[in-house]
Amino acid sequence: MNNTLTRFALALSLAVAACGTPMQSPDATADSGVGSDVVAPSDVTTPTDTPATGDAATTTGDPTWWRDIKPLVDQTCNNCHRTGGIAPMALADYATVRPMARLIANQVRDRVMPPWMPREGCRPLVDVRGLTDQEIAKFVAWEAAGAPEGNMADYRELPARPDTTRPLPSTPGDIVVQPAEPYLPNQRLTDDYHCFIVDPALTATRDVIGVRVVPGNPRIVHHMLLFEVRSGGLAQLQRNDDAEPGPGYTCFGGPNVDANARAGTNGDLIDLDMQQIAGWAPGGVDGYMPSGTGIRLKPGSRIVMQVHYNMQMATRNMTDRTRVELFLSPAGTTQQALWLPQQNSNFTVPAGAPPTDPRATAVANFRNTQLPVRIFGVFPHMHQRGHSIRVEAVTNSGTSNCLVDVPRWDFHWQQNYFFRSPYRPAVGATGDTLRTTCVWDNRPENQPFIDGVQVAPRDLRWGEGSEDEMCLNYFYISL
Ligand code: HEC
Repeated sequence: MNNTLTRFALALSLAVAACGTPMQSPDATADSGVGSDVVAPSDVTTPTDTPATGDAATTTGDPTWWRDIKPLVDQTCNNCHRTGGIAPMALADYATVRPMARLIANQVRDRVMPPWMPREGCRPLVDVRGLTDQEIAKFVAWEAAGAPEGNMADYRELPARPDTTRPLPSTPGDIVVQPAEPYLPNQRLTDDYHCFIVDPALTATRDVIGVRVVPGNPRIVHHMLLFEVRSGGLAQLQRNDDAEPGPGYTCFGGPNVDANARAGTNGDLIDLDMQQIAGWAPGGVDGYMPSGTGIRLKPGSRIVMQVHYNMQMATRNMTDRTRVELFLSPAGTTQQALWLPQQNSNFTVPAGAPPTDPRATAVANFRNTQLPVRIFGVFPHMHQRGHSIRVEAVTNSGTSNCLVDVPRWDFHWQQNYFFRSPYRPAVGATGDTLRTTCVWDNRPENQPFIDGVQVAPRDLRWGEGSEDEMCLNYFYISL
């Protein structure tokens, strides 16, 4: 990926100044943003001044399932809590929800559900999943009132939230990327990274404007990255495939094909032999790219789907057949965009180091010297010992424009974040510095469990395995 980064950056004339030495982030009080957002139970103002009165709720104004809670659940929970969704149970009807009312109210009050990691106060985002204080108060008051059902006649569907992007159609995408057979990961490994090669049989240039990822076996699929390999990279791709029996090949980080970027022709921003199309990790959402932009695919290209499988005792011998659906723009209507990676791969976080240890922080910088890009969004990424990650644009005078700040990194809830409006970093000798700051927590109590046993801390360095760490962010950019 280093390779990819350097080539992209050179081609885009961005001077790369990846800051190799871990350093203390200027305001590393990473948790300060969280506490202030949390609604303590005693702070909750219920929308009623009447004490809880069970069945009388409908008339006294206590929140009821039908009038107040179900509309919110339909709008903000059922995207995951539906039959076949990624959550363990559907929150469909009163009979199911009633016995869980206390659990639901607590998880909502503590902002565990719905999962939403960025803090308020940075660049406004689309598809925000967090609830407002008022909505949280409704859940809490409903539970406190005995979780009354109320009257079905009071149910009104809520409109989509403002700044919600339109959903993908339920019909399959224009290109379906799926290996021909279920895949059994290499059982000698804990982590198997496999690259599957699919020929989309494109006869013309097309732009990908929407992506849906359907993990085949969510218990072993750890993340998925999708790449385009263009004609210039096909020989290398073939060598990779031939070096290993069976469909596809073992690959780390990317498809092991050089990006070789050049200035674009025919109105293309850039020409390259390999690029990332999409990334998905648990929590990732399906949807459209920011309006008017897309990732450009060329005729003759192959699509490489890299799936990272993480196997533990309970998931041995499980197979997977993950599917990705790509939605294409009608030709000629789209502005070409790119996922530009930024990383710091040169850190060592000592075993046992707390987040306050300066060696537990790594920073990556780009100085934007030439290119008038628009940044539509970011995809920050760390592994399991991540503590927090922040992406910002720092002006020449030192002012920080926060793009996204995740004060409590949770490996299970990562995704790309798109802005309501693109950020245009200042260009030139005094241009903005784009900066990603990563902080780890390598104390014994923050180690993952493997087969039920919490592992001992060890020094953390950059690596592809889930026992290694990353400080990586992708900027989704266009001109
Ligand atoms: C983005 C997907 C997603 C959304 C949106 C979501 N949940 Fe969840 N929820 C999950 C997953 C997955 C779990 C399983 C535990 C985990 O992985 O954290 C879960 C677990 C829960 C649990 C705990 C179940 C248990 O047995 O411990 C409750 C309660 C819950 N969710 C309620 C809600 C409510 C209420 C909403 C809406 C206000 C909501 N969730 C929105 C994905 C989601």
